Amino acid sequence: MTPPPVVILRPEDAGALAELSRLADQDPWSEESWRDQLAQPATLVLATGDPASGLTGAIALSMVHEFAEILNLLIHPGYRRQGLASHLLATGLKRTGERGIDRLCLDVNVNNAAARALYAGFGFSEDGRRPRYYSDGSDAMLMSCKVAGTTGLPG
Ligand SMILES: CC(C)(COP(=O)(O)OP(=O)(O)OC[C@H]1O[C@@H](n2cnc3c(N)ncnc32)[C@H](O)[C@@H]1OP(=O)(O)O)[C@@H](O)C(=O)NCCC(=O)NCCS
Repeated sequence: MTPPPVVILRPEDAGALAELSRLADQDPWSEESWRDQLAQPATLVLATGDPASGLTGAIALSMVHEFAEILNLLIHPGYRRQGLASHLLATGLKRTGERGIDRLCLDVNVNNAAARALYAGFGFSEDGRRPRYYSDGSDAMLMSCKVAGTTGLPG
């Protein structure tokens, strides 16, 4: 299957992201939070689907000098296990590498088996934990992956 086009979102797309967040995230970001994020020069939000009629997935990255972080990654529940997160993550890794950034970091709920499997497939490894980081009391796992020299592909 041909991967769908990836679009770069702008502050006016905050409503579409809030709707995706509401459907896909246990702890959704509001439209205002997304608008604030999208207005940050360091933030890059890449998405699949159509901001006007509905997004199917999105990845939010922050890139400041040599530091890059995944802020959020969401796939619409009706579009999971079709490779969309992998496609967005590969595109995000490519963009990060193009900026000369060497490592991409993230934090993930230790109980989020799906996301952990996704990141492990891309070569992310555990750097440490933040105890009771999430509102449900669970720990955050800190992970990172080397960007330079990666193919941007899992496995
Ligand atoms: C985690 C999430 C982003 C995965 O999106 P996706 O588009 O379904 O992922 P992909 O189809 O690209 O899957 C790639 C690999 O990740 C792993 N994976 C994805 N979903 C999984 C699941 N439910 N259980 C186990 N492994 C899973 C598998 O290894 C999968 O490869 P495979 O399908 O060949 O077995 C999606 O489930 C989601 O949006 N969850 C809610 C939000 C969230 O947890 N975001 C991560 C924040 S850190």
